[in-house]
Amino acid sequence: MQAIGLMSGTSLDGVDAAWVQTDGETVSGFGQAATVLYEDSLRADLRRILDLAAALAADDPFLRDVTEKLTREHALAVAVLGKAADVIGFHGQTILHAPEAGRTWQIGDAPLLSHITRLPVVHDFRSADVAAGGQGAPLVPLFHAAMAKEIEKPLLIVNIGGVANATWLGPNGEIIACDTGPGNGPLDDLAQKHLGQAYDKDGALAASGQVDYARLRALLAHPFFALPPPKSLDRLSFSSLIEQAIAGLAPPEAAATLAAFICAAIAQTPWPAPPKQVLVTGGGRHNATLMAGLAARFTVPVQPVEAVGWNGDALEAQCFAFLAVRSLRGLPLSLPSTTGVKAPQTGGRLHGTIL
Ligand SMILES: Nc1ncnc2c1ncn2[C@@H]1O[C@H](COP(=O)(O)OP(=O)(O)O)[C@@H](O)[C@H]1O
Ligand SMILES: [Mg+2]
Repeated sequence: MQAIGLMSGTSLDGVDAAWVQTDGETVSGFGQAATVLYEDSLRADLRRILDLAAALAADDPFLRDVTEKLTREHALAVAVLGKAADVIGFHGQTILHAPEAGRTWQIGDAPLLSHITRLPVVHDFRSADVAAGGQGAPLVPLFHAAMAKEIEKPLLIVNIGGVANATWLGPNGEIIACDTGPGNGPLDDLAQKHLGQAYDKDGALAASGQVDYARLRALLAHPFFALPPPKSLDRLSFSSLIEQAIAGLAPPEAAATLAAFICAAIAQTPWPAPPKQVLVTGGGRHNATLMAGLAARFTVPVQPVEAVGWNGDALEAQCFAFLAVRSLRGLPLSLPSTTGVKAPQTGGRLHGTIL
């Protein structure tokens, strides 16, 4: 099938769109990819909704208004690709992720997207996994495994979005994954507050400061980091811990300490065996301070996924195109070793009719 995947990550920077040709097991073709960046006002509204989500009703008027705007941005991203497709994989925007409470909440109006694009839409990828006792995240590992068939194992693929997650692929087909800790999220919050910018461009602010190691140790003492995979996080899971830990630090020191925290959490995640190489995807790979911090913590090469010919700005969108096709075919989207679900779990819901 020809599929378009749409991903709006917890960084709230925009929606990534990508076209692939796939049977849900292998990817036989890659097409255009694009990102439609959100205007500041939509990003600020989404950021506000993250803070409000736990108390929001599904029919809240503000939420409905933002959901419609968000969905129209997704439709724009489909139009920008300008490619025909059989189906859209529509992840939506996670505004709350609390699997231990049986909740994970992605907003997005699948009927509206389907109406504007005139295409069938697969959406709601995570809730079946959570309902079956899984973490509902990360969902990208099966796609990583499909992409990395020919690459030497063990291989570690690290995705630094608003939250960071990693997939460990073993020599005997093992696929193990988890969220590792915060990603760009807290750095973006700091950049917004102190620089009035959406993110710390190229990691310059973090590079200009010194790491406060006592505070770094305090952050890493959180029990989450000693837990083995699978495990997952909300975009705001550590926000109060981080706020306390960086209180009183000058912005460069706070940024340096947060960058070190993100890297240390990734490097400390326990896997069955050390990887032969680390491939980094997601917007965090553009942050030179994060890339240097990771390289310093691994003894094997740490490179952006472009080193193996992948597109790190499109990988997650490609993943949701792939997962949409898997959903249509009734193939699992998650495994006990990727989300902690009891058995391989299907998911996604179709709006519209596949022709
Ligand atoms: N040039 C850059 N320098 C530093 N950080 C960057 C750069 N480009 C992108 N980023 C970071 O990447 C984030 C977007 O990454 P993305 O993979 O889209 O995350 P998500 O999946 O959470 O949306 C931005 O919020 C920013 O933190
Ligand atoms: Mg993004």
